Amino acid sequence: MAGGRFLSFEGIDGSGKSTQARLLAEALRGLGRPVTLTREPGGSPGAEEIRRLVLEGDPDRWSAETELLLFTAARRDHLERTIRPALARGEVVITDRFADSSRMYQGISRGDLASLVEALHALMIGVEPDLTVLIDIDPEVGLSRALARKGAEQRFEDMGQGLQRRMRDGFLALAASHPGRFRVIDGARDPQAVAAEVLATVRAHLGV
Ligand code: ADP
Ligand code: TYD
Repeated sequence: MAGGRFLSFEGIDGSGKSTQARLLAEALRGLGRPVTLTREPGGSPGAEEIRRLVLEGDPDRWSAETELLLFTAARRDHLERTIRPALARGEVVITDRFADSSRMYQGISRGDLASLVEALHALMIGVEPDLTVLIDIDPEVGLSRALARKGAEQRFEDMGQGLQRRMRDGFLALAASHPGRFRVIDGARDPQAVAAEVLATVRAHLGV
């Protein structure tokens, strides 16, 4: 997409994505780069409303297919209202999760919807980040961090340890199959050490 640079963070719950997205935004702004820091599900007013529908309530509230449609609708709004305009202004867009999260969570968590996820992505979204940073962490560590944080948005964390393990393996396999776009970074260190490697990786890859 024209102008700016588009970057996503991915990883299991509690891997430290949000922390790293924020630290990277601060570092790039410190270097004088305009940055839009955003997240999914959400990142635009309409998509934030959909966020509440998908993250709160009973884990069986939606069928897997309905949930995929809701995440995709939220992503389309996020793309139209937030991501594309920021890229057109020449900014660095950093999003905490994007389509790879749907490939993992909707694609493999409740039956095999992977081909449906790809088809819907091609139809309705059709873009990938210039760079995706996968923060990799042991699911036990991730889950204990995520549970310590607690809150209303427990639907996915409540799905438990087995799911987190499959997600981690799935993310690593996805990264291995798209080596040009992905960089895998070890999240099991203190946040500043992780952030230093993220910044060096981003500057090397995107020339920012
Ligand atoms: P995510 O967005 O991947 O779920 P967060 O950045 O929200 O992860 O981090 C989850 C929790 O773990 C937060 O309470 C955060 O302060 C803490 N945390 C983040 N990074 C680290 C780290 N490298 N080491 C220890 N704790 C961390
Ligand atoms: P997030 O707020 O990033 O949670 P966390 O900080 O705990 O990682 O995302 C909330 C949940 O939404 C997370 O469990 C993953 C899930 N999710 C999907 O299932 N599909 C998607 O397309 C996206 C973007 C998120």
